[in-house]
Amino acid sequence: MSIRFDENNRIFYLNTVNSEYQIKIDEYGVALHTYYGKPVGNTDMSYLITEMDRGFSGNLYEARDRRGVSPDTLPTEYSTYGAGDFRLSAAGIIADNGSRTYDLRYVSHDIKSGKEALKGLPYVRAEKDKVDTLELKLEDKIIGLEVTLIYNVFEEKDVITRSARFANKSEKTITLTKAASMSIDIQYADLDIIEFHGRHAMERQTERRELGHDIHVISSKRGTSSHHHNPFVILCDHNADEDNGLCYGFMLVYSGNHAEEIEKDQAGSVRVVSGISGDGFAWKLGQDEDFQTPEVILACTENGLNELSYLYHRIIRENVCPAEFRDMKRPVLINNWEGTYFDFDEEKIMGIAKSASEIGCEMLVLDDGWFGVRNDDNSGLGDWFVNIDKLPGGIKKIADYTNSLGMKFGLWFEPEMVNEDSDLYRNHPDWALKDPDRKPVMGRNQLVLDMSRKEVVDYLFDSISKILDSANIEYVKWDFNRSLSNIYSFAADTEKQGEIAHRFMLGTYDLMQRLRERYPKIMIEGCSGGGGRFDAGILFYSPQIWCSDNSDAINRLKIQKGTSYGYPVSSMGAHVSASPNHQNGRVVPIETRAIVAMSGTFGYELDPRKLSEEDKATIKKQIEEFNRFYTLIQKGRYYRLTTDRQEGYYVAWQFVSEDKSEALLNVVATDVQGNPEIPFVRLKGLDAEAEYEIDYVKLSTGTTAEGGTNNSKTGKSFSGSALMHGGYATGPMFGVYPALQIHFKRK
Ligand code: GLA
Repeated sequence: MSIRFDENNRIFYLNTVNSEYQIKIDEYGVALHTYYGKPVGNTDMSYLITEMDRGFSGNLYEARDRRGVSPDTLPTEYSTYGAGDFRLSAAGIIADNGSRTYDLRYVSHDIKSGKEALKGLPYVRAEKDKVDTLELKLEDKIIGLEVTLIYNVFEEKDVITRSARFANKSEKTITLTKAASMSIDIQYADLDIIEFHGRHAMERQTERRELGHDIHVISSKRGTSSHHHNPFVILCDHNADEDNGLCYGFMLVYSGNHAEEIEKDQAGSVRVVSGISGDGFAWKLGQDEDFQTPEVILACTENGLNELSYLYHRIIRENVCPAEFRDMKRPVLINNWEGTYFDFDEEKIMGIAKSASEIGCEMLVLDDGWFGVRNDDNSGLGDWFVNIDKLPGGIKKIADYTNSLGMKFGLWFEPEMVNEDSDLYRNHPDWALKDPDRKPVMGRNQLVLDMSRKEVVDYLFDSISKILDSANIEYVKWDFNRSLSNIYSFAADTEKQGEIAHRFMLGTYDLMQRLRERYPKIMIEGCSGGGGRFDAGILFYSPQIWCSDNSDAINRLKIQKGTSYGYPVSSMGAHVSASPNHQNGRVVPIETRAIVAMSGTFGYELDPRKLSEEDKATIKKQIEEFNRFYTLIQKGRYYRLTTDRQEGYYVAWQFVSEDKSEALLNVVATDVQGNPEIPFVRLKGLDAEAEYEIDYVKLSTGTTAEGGTNNSKTGKSFSGSALMHGGYATGPMFGVYPALQIHFKRK
């Protein structure tokens, strides 16, 4: 059992192979957080708590003679409000008499093996792993509020998940205005924070800074996890780098409004509170009703950022994403969006299918514009029936034709949206979220459907199923192209309006789950204007998410790197698009575009009919090469190799197979120079004793990487220790965004 309770000292020990987590119930029944870090052999770490009377830090009534014991300074496991702790609260509670105070004390606990599914929410699946669960029941006796803290220990995977369940055990109503999934206090914490902010077409940019004595909030109230603030945060030592240093990760498994709040307190402790955002949130709990929060995935390592990323990659790939697609070879797809936008008909799409099949693509995805009256982005959303004017033979004709060429077929949907100019909206104007007394805020000229209503979810399930039943569709791209505003449901009572944003997510998850159950073989690729809903919640239903609407390979280096801190390469949708790039006009060689897209799910997003013969031949080869390295890239260990300073000139990253028998090194020069600095990296994760031979070298056209070093040659061999400790120099890289890809094979 990975969870142990020491009854005499009332301490819970949660043990994974390389981490240990401790909770101590003190003499007043408060659940204290006493440790999270490298295993300490179940030594009671509460000796680190200092009793000290700090001014203006009050005491529990029963501890009034012990002024050093204050809720304001003790490290707690789930923080309270109004009961002496002035730091961030984990919940917001309004009792029936209007009181906001809640004070949680230990009632009981249950330790069991296994893990239960979270009903209606995505979660980390136990799968075949040995998982143990601690349910720690805390209570505010005065208002009859029970809060059960749930911990699942994935012993072998070095990960702990946490969530909270609120239950009203009184006869009166309790209102939740905030219900975090977790809070934690890290004492003596001199830490940096790394977060992943961004914007549409520039998602998950990495920002690292020192935590000061303030409250730092990463949050979204867009109704999505957002392009702007990803619900994943890392805290680490100031000197932590890829290979060394204490790092903590907190990742919310949720796709809607969220907040990760971090406060460094007067004594230098850091509190992290993570969960659904309290903005606009109000949830009424009647007698015996409960509320289950989403889950947070926690990981901790002293071995630096690479190890932390690895822990998240593994748990997401193996325990979050649907099992059906884990080991399946995902098809190299071609998507027509950037190739045609809305300007297509049957003949054009079939022409694209034909030439895509000739260059080796394995699946055609028909993007936006095939349904309703949709010739631009102002109309048609919600009308999930085929536009016969454009596609007289329906989806079936195109799917059959695509299949006859040996390719799979996939289709785009944007289920949760509706245009005012659609039959659906004309028939059901109250199915959209909007304030009854205001003109709605528009986004891309569309409104958002009220997914809190069962009839809306049923309509979508039926109409989407009808299309999916009409042809051999093996993939769905599930888009979401605006933020939520005017969150108001015509079907809910006044006092329930604060529940709608979360009920919206529950409705979306319900639709995804129902479609997954009915079509277990159809792979969903998540999308929200690119990566606006790139989170572990969506990954529970879809193993891959379109990473960004920005397909420029050079911008993608930063987007994919930022994404890689928390999410595996196998989840990142990445395509080769036309050059000059449609988002920023940059010209990048086709090999460089492919080397970058290969560090993702790989595919093409262009009109293959317009390709030169030379590019067609190149692409054919690229697909063969990607397929050759598929397992290494998708399942190998991923290493970021370059520092911020190096990345002013070049970016390098690497994959190593689990058995260390092969590695793939990728280098892209982002700023070529006269008399240049030579790209140099130390490879990682190899077998130090082994000899590795280069058996494949790819250089982008026009690139030279020879000159002085001449290392990038097939047949050259190096010892693992030389590559890891001495390093590897590419030689000078000249040309336009030159790129290099090298495969090392153990001899
Ligand atoms: C979003 C997606 C794109 C494309 C368009 C279609 O922006 O991210 O890939 O599907 O919608 O409207």
